[in-house]
Amino acid sequence: MKHTEVKQQHLSLYLEVCSETEEPRLPLHTSIALFLLSYCECSSFKVFLVFTKPASSQSLKSQLAECLDVSDMQLEDLPQLVKGCRLPAVLDETGRLCRAGLAVVLRHIINKTLEADPSRNDVLALLGFKKTCLKACAEVSKWTRLCEIGIPSAVEEHLTNPTNQYQQLPLPILVLERRLAEPVKVHNDDKIRRQKLQEQRQNEKNESPEGQGNPDSEPEPGQSPQVRDGLELRAALAKLSVDSVPTFTTRENSEIRKVKTTDLPPLEHVFAEGLYFTLTDVVLLPCIYQYLCSLQAHAASTLHSLPYLLRWYSRVQEVPGVLRAADACGMALSIPQVPTSSLPGPSAEDNPASLLEKEEGQEMTTQFPFVGGPRPTMTKLKENGIEAVFAPHPFPIWTLPWDSLPEAINPTEGKMSNIRAVRKRQQLNNLIAMVTEIARPGYTVVDFCSGTGHVGIVLAHTLPDCQVILIENKEESLVRAQSRSAELGLKNIGFIQANLDYFTGPFHIGVALHACGVATDMVMEHCIQAGAAFVISPCCYGFIQNAIKFNFPKSKKFQETLTYKEHMVLCRFADQTAVQLPPERRLIGKQCMGLVDLDRLWAAETHGYSVRVMTMEPESCSPKNNMLVGRPPHKSGLEVGASQLEALVHN
Ligand SMILES: *[C@@H]1O[C@H](CO)[C@@H](O)[C@H](O)[C@H]1NC(C)=O
Repeated sequence: MKHTEVKQQHLSLYLEVCSETEEPRLPLHTSIALFLLSYCECSSFKVFLVFTKPASSQSLKSQLAECLDVSDMQLEDLPQLVKGCRLPAVLDETGRLCRAGLAVVLRHIINKTLEADPSRNDVLALLGFKKTCLKACAEVSKWTRLCEIGIPSAVEEHLTNPTNQYQQLPLPILVLERRLAEPVKVHNDDKIRRQKLQEQRQNEKNESPEGQGNPDSEPEPGQSPQVRDGLELRAALAKLSVDSVPTFTTRENSEIRKVKTTDLPPLEHVFAEGLYFTLTDVVLLPCIYQYLCSLQAHAASTLHSLPYLLRWYSRVQEVPGVLRAADACGMALSIPQVPTSSLPGPSAEDNPASLLEKEEGQEMTTQFPFVGGPRPTMTKLKENGIEAVFAPHPFPIWTLPWDSLPEAINPTEGKMSNIRAVRKRQQLNNLIAMVTEIARPGYTVVDFCSGTGHVGIVLAHTLPDCQVILIENKEESLVRAQSRSAELGLKNIGFIQANLDYFTGPFHIGVALHACGVATDMVMEHCIQAGAAFVISPCCYGFIQNAIKFNFPKSKKFQETLTYKEHMVLCRFADQTAVQLPPERRLIGKQCMGLVDLDRLWAAETHGYSVRVMTMEPESCSPKNNMLVGRPPHKSGLEVGASQLEALVHN
């Protein structure tokens, strides 16, 4: 990979076009990005529509807002770094930092819009109350996964065969429908709920005496939206208005003020994340638009099963700017003509168990409940001939020449304490030695979970004949890494802000220092799929649990011996290696760590890999001092050349 010649003056946004069929078509991820650009009236990007075969965007004109600077591009002409990523992707002005994946790209569009015009409060509001909307990646957050992947794919799937009745109500759509039916909690919502109660009482009084006044019943058709839509929507829309006039000026009467919080009426879901319009609504709108258009044309009766989705759909259209943005993208929004009669209001009592946990990271930290210590499990393994084995370290005293390295490379840089810096250097010695041994000139080395680049930057400096790519989901960390690298003038380095699933490029060696929980397994799997070697130091064994892609234990031998629960016992105790703990406990912790990694090793061996689990030198460099080194089955012709390590040693 060569990133060296890239020099561009602008931000480039690359969007995919489906061009397998005669008529090119925009996939939903592309439509969503275009819709956000249009909503934000953002002109910071040069947009490239990427075709897989020669074609032109002429027929797509109606879906491209006029204010955009759009060019067509062939897949093979993509810059190298972008070619290794799934679209949508943005390449920054330096040509070295690529942001990939829908959620990451959309958040970046918002960032750039705000930098160009900080007064866009409506755009800022898209990020949500804590500015975290769609920040947790799809591997961690079910909600991000639903919006970023589940719903768009379900709709794409439906569109390929819209008359197939089995596909008419895909699971992700149902999950969304159920979610929209739930009442919402928002920060400080007492005030709004009291107002709601007051309005409900008012309405009851205004009903004719014989009327069965139910304030939540649906309006007669023809009523104006102002009357029809409750207080929730008004609250939501008020938040979006630029001058932000306080809407609730009427004071509640004392009777209302006395009502206990628990007796206040629940609030209806207005938008996808609750009360307020956010980025997730922007993501959902093009999807739901296409889905509803298709249902209306092919299976109108199905619309009856989606009352909450339809309510959401009409409410979204009341958000200022949405109709304009949709129109510019060729989306003719309308209110679907379906009676939405029996729509019950939210009820606090029979609130269905939430289908989704929204809290960032929540799912990763769910602890498996268990009793007892690790001994029965370890004994069971031992009786079956399974014991932790640690391979000897091939370069126990090898070290980088830290004192002669540029200042910006050193992990002392920043706020790290001295003792931590020494240990970090020791950990790096281990990883760099192993990578350097495997590396050959021309190799691409990927630092997964790169953080601020402690490993990747040292690698790029140490291996000038290799290309190094740093992948990291956290923007702040990666931007920091990029500026450190710029300080050093490194040329053989690229940066990708993405969930690792969005990196599809070829590479030879994957590295990860302290890959938390199943992150280790994700990196291993990514390397195995790419046929790449890996050097990984795992971490946070206690966070390991069955994930979408992995079931534990992973290897056949462990599966034959341990249940999932028993394996989780090992993982839990593998975390007990902190220096404060009594030595016996730490010894058991180290054994458990070795066993968990042995299971990983055996699983990788079924792919033809040769894998070693070893202990980093010196052991004290980290309580999590295991290192997994795997080599792919097929030796490439390059292997006969002198290793980079030998070259280093002899210099
Ligand atoms: C945009 O992103 C940069 C880099 O992470 C950050 O420093 C900046 O504060 C963000 N700007 C806005 C307006 O959010």
